[in-house]
Amino acid sequence: MCGIVGYVGAKPAEGVVIEGLRRLEYRGYDSAGIALVDAGSIVSDKRAGKLANLEKAIAESPLPPVTTGIGHTRWATHGPPTDRNAHPHVGRARRVALVHNGIIENFAALRGRLESAGVEMASDTDTEVAAHLLEEQLETGVDLTVAMQNVCRGLEGAFTLVAVDSQDPDRVVAARRNSPLVVGIGEGENFLGSDVAAFIEHTREAMELDQDQVVTITREGVAVSGFDGTPAEGRRYHVDWDLSAAEKDGHDWFMRKEIFEQPRAVADSLLGRRGTDGLLQLDEMRLSDQDLRDVDKIIIIAAGTSFYAGMVAKYAIEHWCRIPVEVELASEFRYRDPILTSDTLVVAISQSGETADTLQAIRHAREQRSKVLSICNTNGSTIPRESDGVIYTHAGPEIGVASTKGFLTQLVACYLLALYLAQVKGTRFGDEISQVMDQLERMPAHVQSVLDKAEEVYSLARDHVGSRSVLFLGRHAGYPVALEGALKLKEIAYLHAEGFAAGELKHGPIALVEEGLPILCVVPPRGRDQLHDKMISGIQEVRARGARTLCLAEEGDTTIEPYADVLITLPQVPVLLQPLVAVVPLQLFACELATQLGHDVDQPRNLAKSVTVE
Ligand code: F6R
Repeated sequence: MCGIVGYVGAKPAEGVVIEGLRRLEYRGYDSAGIALVDAGSIVSDKRAGKLANLEKAIAESPLPPVTTGIGHTRWATHGPPTDRNAHPHVGRARRVALVHNGIIENFAALRGRLESAGVEMASDTDTEVAAHLLEEQLETGVDLTVAMQNVCRGLEGAFTLVAVDSQDPDRVVAARRNSPLVVGIGEGENFLGSDVAAFIEHTREAMELDQDQVVTITREGVAVSGFDGTPAEGRRYHVDWDLSAAEKDGHDWFMRKEIFEQPRAVADSLLGRRGTDGLLQLDEMRLSDQDLRDVDKIIIIAAGTSFYAGMVAKYAIEHWCRIPVEVELASEFRYRDPILTSDTLVVAISQSGETADTLQAIRHAREQRSKVLSICNTNGSTIPRESDGVIYTHAGPEIGVASTKGFLTQLVACYLLALYLAQVKGTRFGDEISQVMDQLERMPAHVQSVLDKAEEVYSLARDHVGSRSVLFLGRHAGYPVALEGALKLKEIAYLHAEGFAAGELKHGPIALVEEGLPILCVVPPRGRDQLHDKMISGIQEVRARGARTLCLAEEGDTTIEPYADVLITLPQVPVLLQPLVAVVPLQLFACELATQLGHDVDQPRNLAKSVTVE
């Protein structure tokens, strides 16, 4: 997830672009860059680190006061966050400058073709290929709009592209496929942005585009077309949010916005994982197939929410790969003197990539000669840098302290790892792996269908503002979901909340149950008959003792109806993938309850986003 700005008008473009980037910095902040069109040439500057680094560089070497420009603030996906990988990227003749959000899935093939035609790449990014391709098109004599249409037809993946042509200074052209882009419509000036926050200071008139459309902005107007050149109309609307709501896309909290971003985050985390041969590919795995074949034990280490993702991973890896998996709290790992060999694969899961407990644990594992693979959301952070391989999740920056989209994308990465190991070790047939990938690719739509019913969950949360304690029950892959639901409620609503494995209740915790105690129950899909029926028995037990049962169960599961005081339905999905949909109502529940209680949901008391002390 990156922030993109484009401007053409009468004002100095530098100011408009930098201010827009500042408003979009929440979308990514590991590098920033700007390109302006000045008398037939591109003038650009780009710097690793926060926007302030770019501003400092510009203050030292000022840019010309021209009125057409583009800018970018990056959340790295391909290549580390360095000056050379920062956007904008330029073509070979520096005629075109281009910024990009998303992932171009077929970039490796395109890069290969360009390199064999003699193009030297100046970065590790997937973006740069699009700049060269645009320039190739312009050399045939077409204008930037047609060049963009032609290039986009050959791109796969999800992308927003914004480009300028030094030979056509009054035009900025953008394209989108499955990635955000809005147009800001002004008087004698027009804007492009990843969202309206980029230009809301200048205009509140905006235009939405459909998928696979190209938009051209000039001072005088805005023209939209399909990738095939067919003229199209954008949908105009008026923005009545204030600036702070605009940054949150109209939501009251970043956390709520991030919950609603999950379909996109899950889809992005799945992009580019299947090669043209149908096999799974994990770009930065860096561990050889032989190394992975030799693995005889996996230890997953993580903290908090990431630890619960690890618990789900255990079910998936053991089931699909038949490799024993231990899941360990990072803070406990070193102190039990774990048995580690060169055939142990240690998997560290961390959204921030900076958690001190997890970092110390991987250092210990590497000292014992074990291989370390990290699952991380933050490109260039310490944990992936100190790992032998990495699977990046593509959630984009998570601003809310309580992790939401971080968790869902970690789950996706865990499933991908499990399937990749199954492919390498041959424990699942190729068609079985493809079938699970197909099911995973349907998950963004399933998550969306849960979000579409958010109001039901909000009203349930409002009914519980007076509750002093809430319990969560789950079994199998639903058990970590119950733990995560309880953690969310503790973190932001400051309520006593505990998650239990349903079968464990009768061994003690059932003593907590009293008249009216709300218990959220994650009911497994019926595919696993025993599991499902055992869960129902657990629900019956607590209900018989006066608990108020709030059940999450798949659509069509009528067996639960007699035992549910409230029933929230989930889409029908396979048992191992159910955490991806089951956790969403629990996130919504916690977010709404905390809001009703008047708490600061994004920055809960006593917590920090990145815990860099042990
Ligand atoms: C929960 C939460 C924390 C983190 C934990 C690990 O909402 O945010 O429990 O999950 O501190 O952080 P990372 O994943 O950055 O290592």
